[in-house]
Amino acid sequence: MAAIIGIIQVKGGVGRSTIATNLAAHLAVEAPTALVECDLPQGTSASWYALRRHSLSVEGLTLATAADPAELVAVCGTLVTSHRYLIIDAPPRLAEMTRAIIVMSRLCLIPLGASAAEIWSTTDLMKTIAQAKQFRPDVDARLLWTRYRSYTREAQELSAAVGRELGVPELATKIGYRVSYSEAMARGLSVREWPDRAAREEMARLVDEVRNIMGEGMP
Ligand SMILES: Nc1ncnc2c1ncn2[C@@H]1O[C@H](COP(=O)(O)OP(=O)(O)OP(=O)(O)O)[C@@H](O)[C@H]1O
Ligand SMILES: [Mg+2]
Repeated sequence: MAAIIGIIQVKGGVGRSTIATNLAAHLAVEAPTALVECDLPQGTSASWYALRRHSLSVEGLTLATAADPAELVAVCGTLVTSHRYLIIDAPPRLAEMTRAIIVMSRLCLIPLGASAAEIWSTTDLMKTIAQAKQFRPDVDARLLWTRYRSYTREAQELSAAVGRELGVPELATKIGYRVSYSEAMARGLSVREWPDRAAREEMARLVDEVRNIMGEGMP
C-alpha cells in the first residue's frame, strides 16, 4: 500500500507545487510514485509532468488528476496498490478537497514562508486539521519552511513565534529561497537534475526526513 503525502496550504503561491514535484521526482528514483494533481484547472504539477516527459524518462513516476474529492478517493484507491508513494498537490483553498486530502494522507506537509499573510492563512488551516483529527486522530501534519532566508531577522523571529503559536511540529529541513527551484520547474525538472548543489542537498534531506517520519527506510 502506498504512503500518501499531501502538500496542503490555504494561500496560493507558497511553494506547494515546487515541493510536490521535487518530492515526487526524488521518491520516484527509489520506488513507484504517483503525483496526484488536485489543483485544477491551474494544474502546475500536471504541466511540469508534461514537460518532463519530453526531456527525460518518467519511468517510476505516474501522473494522475482529480477534480473533486470523490474522484480523488477513486484515483488514490486505484494507485495505492501499484505505487509506494502518492504525492498530492492540493488547491490553495480551504475547500472539501483540502479536507479530503488531510483525512487521506499519512503525512501532510504545510509549506510556509516567513510572512504574516502566510502565517495567518496557516492559522485557518490549523482549525481544519483539528476538525479532521476528530475523524482521524492520527492525522500527522508538519510545517515546512520554504523560500526561507535564514539570515533575515524577520524569518528567524517569525519562525520561532509561529512554531509556538500554531502548535504544529515543524520539519528540521528548511527549503531556502533559490532561483533554481523556479528554473528547474520551468523545464520539467527537479533540483535533483539541476546544477545547484545546495538545493539538491536540502531536497535530499527533506526526502530523508519525510521517509523517517513515515517509518519508511530506504527501499
Ligand atoms: N524555495 C523557493 N525558492 C524560490 N522560488 C520558489 C521556491 N518555491 C517556490 N518558488 C516559486 O514561487 C512561485 C510559486 O511556487 P509554487 O507554484 O510551487 O507554489 P504553489 O503554492 O503551488 O502556487 P499556486 O497557488 O499557484 O498553486 C513559483 O514561481 C516558484 O517557482
Ligand atoms: Mg501549485
